[in-house]
Amino acid sequence: MLFWDNTLLKYLELANEDVRVVQFVSERILPKVARLRGSINWLEVGPGPGTKTAALFETLAALLESRLELTKLLEPCPTWITYLRNFQTLLFADSQKRKVVLENTSFEEYETELGLEGETEGSNFITFFHVLYEHKIIESTAKYLQRKAASHSPLIACIVIESTDSDFYRLRRELQALGFEVPVAAAELIPDWFSKLGIPVTINSINDQYCRIIPGCSYRDWLLDFLLGCERRVISELSATARKEADHLLANFIKQRSNKFLYVPDLAITAVFG
Ligand SMILES: C[S@@+](CC[C@H](N)C(=O)[O-])C[C@H]1O[C@@H](n2cnc3c(N)ncnc32)[C@H](O)[C@@H]1O
Repeated sequence: MLFWDNTLLKYLELANEDVRVVQFVSERILPKVARLRGSINWLEVGPGPGTKTAALFETLAALLESRLELTKLLEPCPTWITYLRNFQTLLFADSQKRKVVLENTSFEEYETELGLEGETEGSNFITFFHVLYEHKIIESTAKYLQRKAASHSPLIACIVIESTDSDFYRLRRELQALGFEVPVAAAELIPDWFSKLGIPVTINSINDQYCRIIPGCSYRDWLLDFLLGCERRVISELSATARKEADHLLANFIKQRSNKFLYVPDLAITAVFG
């Protein structure tokens, strides 16, 4: 599984992704969630450090008040579990009133359990922010959404992924051509699911997203790891030749961007079920 736990905070510090994604979801998606009838059960898949999760939770809690019944966070990475408990304390502050449950599990495990139990799952708002980059979780998500479509239960699903216009997307394709194993290009797969399910879907670009390249502050210590979604350990096992080729590719690409920033827009795919 790709956890991005060595490099994600570095990227988020240099980029405006959190601000832009939170703004988009708050303005465009949360009002739709508030229009659902009755109580809201939010399932947030792969919160990582929880920077987006915590900001959205505050807005959603203010918007829904007591209608926000449950917020469930599924996070398989132990480092992020500790980080969430230590640094996103607001999420767990008044857990009696606004119940937040953090589960150390993958979405595949969660989905398989639901399938075995034949359980009617209560979530009516589900979010995946930069989580769908591996085949297993992509397949489980498709299964989960199929089950939800068949049950005709109301659900708003919001998936944010890297746009094919992103410099990261281009860099990953170039690394792949050099023989590196890269995260799956979800933007090429997901929009198709919903048309097959007959579920109306809206696809928005979240533009104006940038990642700064700070002169004098090397991107070498995080960018390759980040693009591969890897642990630093994996990177340290690369052959000297592979490392050199990758460094050369990144250096040239960054030079073309005048060493200032990378353009990293996202796609938001929102589907309304039931
Ligand atoms: C690129 S990070 C994004 C984190 C956060 N959502 C954000 O946008 O800042 C990917 C996150 O997905 C989690 N993840 C990876 N595989 C997963 C899986 N199979 N099920 C649930 N979460 C997963 C990782 O541990 C990590 O927290």
